[in-house]
Amino acid sequence: MTNKVVIGAQWGDEGKAKITDILANRADFIIRYQGGCNAGHTVVADDVTYKFHLVPSGILYKNKFCLIGTGTVIHPESFKAEIDELKQQGVDLTGLKISSLASVTMPYHIEADGYNEEHAGKGKIGTTKKGIGPTYTDKAARIGLKIQDLYDEETLSEKLDVILPLKNKILSKVYGLDEYSKDCIIDLCKKYAEIFKPYVCFDLQKFLYEHKNDNILFEGAQGVMLDIDWGTYPFVTSSNPIGGGAAVGSGYGPKMIDDVIGVAKAYVTRVGEGPFVTELNDETGKHIRDVGHEFGVTTGRPRRCGWFDAVTMRYAVQAGGITQVALTKLDVFDTFKEIKICTAYKNIRTGEITKYYPTDVYTHKYFEPIYETYPGWCSDISKVREYDKLPKNAKKYISRLEEILEVPISIVSVGPDREQTIWRK
Ligand code: IMP
Repeated sequence: MTNKVVIGAQWGDEGKAKITDILANRADFIIRYQGGCNAGHTVVADDVTYKFHLVPSGILYKNKFCLIGTGTVIHPESFKAEIDELKQQGVDLTGLKISSLASVTMPYHIEADGYNEEHAGKGKIGTTKKGIGPTYTDKAARIGLKIQDLYDEETLSEKLDVILPLKNKILSKVYGLDEYSKDCIIDLCKKYAEIFKPYVCFDLQKFLYEHKNDNILFEGAQGVMLDIDWGTYPFVTSSNPIGGGAAVGSGYGPKMIDDVIGVAKAYVTRVGEGPFVTELNDETGKHIRDVGHEFGVTTGRPRRCGWFDAVTMRYAVQAGGITQVALTKLDVFDTFKEIKICTAYKNIRTGEITKYYPTDVYTHKYFEPIYETYPGWCSDISKVREYDKLPKNAKKYISRLEEILEVPISIVSVGPDREQTIWRK
């Protein structure tokens, strides 16, 4: 048994969906361990396109259990929309479970997210406005609702007596928004309880105990550089996408993890605000965006694009606990004459050159990338299935990345299809 964690090694959108989908086929049990419907990915199987936000895409395979874990935040209506669409497409949801300890995103969380973004001025994060930050804020402040609370009238009433006066004060006095009556929230919670009922795992400990010897795939969302502790704070999400987050959000300890697969694009993209040292605001950046179809699945926003940033990625390997890399979208470079890798940053104020990631992101504007330039391969690699058959220059690029990152690149993706994948071991 080898249990794997799949995480994003950059700022999300690295192509985790495809890698997770392939690895899910080899697992018995898939656990999504953090994030909410801020994540979005599509999986194409047998020519049908499926959209996922919270449900592990492993649900497409028969006889697997898929758990939306304790570390996630769930917006009931978005979850309903997602499962309704999957049901309409004929997907069997029998194996889908939700942790009774996952957190509920309430309407006031979404209102708060929208308000914060609109009024933050220069401090704008560029969130997905799905209420993620405010839900995790309430969880940390110990005034959040757990899925299990929806099924216990007494607990719910007690909790709302604490939560609502606080929420209403903020909503009306700070945000200038309408307050919620207790009856209104109780009615909503009844509705939510019905939505979740077929899936809730009320016997969570027993369920996890019974599946502890399964072949488990831990599915992360977003990426290391969006991690609340290790990412480009404050331009991050509010959970822990790092490999260690799998132990926090799943209910299984770190010893259950054998490998952490960090998914990274052959270049870098990011949506939302925040530093990005190798960002290309020029024709090359636009070209990467066009060839790589770099537009957000959840928000449709054009993604910012840049060369591979090995300084940030070395940091992500370390903080994320990454033991292997899956390099995706290498085929996007098929027509590029030159490809660059940022191997160090130069501090323009001091002239100092470093290969270590500066953790104070407010200083990133003072760093410029130092690049190594590699010749492109100028041929179509999308049909290559064996590593040895890749063009010499593509192999050179991969080898150099492995050398810098000090971890093997064990999977190379050369197109969106499951088959367009090169396994190296
Ligand atoms: P939030 O998670 O909606 O609070 O957004 C915080 C930051 O994370 C913003 O920069 C978002 O664009 C980014 N973000 C959140 N989810 C994803 C994702 O799935 N892919 C890429 N970026 C994301």
